[in-house]
Amino acid sequence: MTADPYRLRTLESIDDFPRVFDVLAAAFGEDFPDEEIEKDRLVFEPTRAHVIDHDDDGIVAHAGAYTREVTVPGAAIPAAHVTLVGVRPTHRRRGLLTRLMMRQLREVRERGEPVAMLWASEGRIYQRFGYGLAALRHIILAADKREVRLTRSAAPEAGRLRDTSPGQARKELEQLYERVRAERPGWSSRSENWWNWRLLDAPTRRQGYTERRALLFEGSEGLDGYALWRRKGDWDETGPKGEVNVVEVVAGTPEAYVALWDFLFSVDLARTVRYTFAATDEPLRYLVNEPRALGDKVADSLWVRVVDVPAALSARRYAAPVDVVLEVSDGLIPENAGRWRLTGDASGAFCTATTDPADLACDIADLGAVYLGGTALGALAAAGRVRELRPGVVATASAAFGWHRQPSTLDIF
Ligand SMILES: CC(C)(COP(=O)(O)OP(=O)(O)OC[C@H]1O[C@@H](n2cnc3c(N)ncnc32)[C@H](O)[C@@H]1OP(=O)(O)O)[C@@H](O)C(=O)NCCC(=O)NCCS
Repeated sequence: MTADPYRLRTLESIDDFPRVFDVLAAAFGEDFPDEEIEKDRLVFEPTRAHVIDHDDDGIVAHAGAYTREVTVPGAAIPAAHVTLVGVRPTHRRRGLLTRLMMRQLREVRERGEPVAMLWASEGRIYQRFGYGLAALRHIILAADKREVRLTRSAAPEAGRLRDTSPGQARKELEQLYERVRAERPGWSSRSENWWNWRLLDAPTRRQGYTERRALLFEGSEGLDGYALWRRKGDWDETGPKGEVNVVEVVAGTPEAYVALWDFLFSVDLARTVRYTFAATDEPLRYLVNEPRALGDKVADSLWVRVVDVPAALSARRYAAPVDVVLEVSDGLIPENAGRWRLTGDASGAFCTATTDPADLACDIADLGAVYLGGTALGALAAAGRVRELRPGVVATASAAFGWHRQPSTLDIF
């Protein structure tokens, strides 16, 4: 038998960061420009970076995580934001990702983070590690914005629009984001470094777009909404065909939301509006005269892994009273497997181990899928993933796990 040539360790220093990016460049088949590497260095956490060394080839695999909060129904909780996962192609399919994931899940649990979450390059990678599809995003591409009009406009006395650079308005943007994120499942906290990361707008990465602008909507008490956006000019024989590219929209009031989108859909010389982070329940859909012309496509966004069942289930709130015994299977974290009684409502929740008969049976990935309130337990039951053991419980539990806003996210981390 040959000796195992691989050793898993935690990265000790940020100095190894370029070597990690070397692995990622090989894994993703991309030459990452220096600006991109520098941008990710702003938020990189070496002590959460696990690498695997090969006896001859050095670092051949990496998986990292960021320490951030995520908003869940009724609360904000610590969540490992898993990132920068890659294995050198010459070492793939030898179980290295599996080793990294096992170590990472254990560590996340020990740190007291009830859940881990990630964006997947391919959905099929992470389900085996207990991640469930928790949020979708809509990619809006209004191919000809002349086909789309808003059916409401903001009352003139509600406030006024102002155009500025994101850097100049940064403090106000931060404050508003902080206020709004409390109500938006799926949104992540942004530290000083995350704002630096968010607002970095390297000229070499603009792909023909202008620099980013901040469109502010100021009400009588201060900033009520903002949009980060940019433009691309273009022409053909029939005239102008520019694009408005919306980076993020954060609105604290409906008036701000309407005013911002009204402006973005009326920019001169632009024919297309593109926004790739729309929520499943994006209010814009209910504000336009021709919803179909928004031309949206749906894609997966956040995958959630519950790493500590009682901590996770008692940390969020429930849209309707719930009292249910869940039989949970978890092939990777034995502490999660077993029967749990969950009682809760909109004001709080408890979750404790029980020997009572189970009402519902599900896998840990199903709990991850429903955790942010976006995926319906009823849909998982219809797929045969969740099993109803007491008649009627899927309907009541599904209502309880839902939420009045769908989860969404503004950052690909
Ligand atoms: C995806 C990736 C990290 C997998 O690493 P790996 O070390 O080859 O994974 P493992 O050997 O631990 O695979 C574990 C299992 O998952 C399966 N698997 C892993 N990646 C897969 C993929 N992309 N598609 C389908 N199955 C995959 C393996 O076949 C294996 O299945 P098995 O247990 O039934 O044999 C690696 O292929 C990679 O770096 N890909 C390109 C970059 C990327 O997509 N990174 C993820 C960013 S979110």
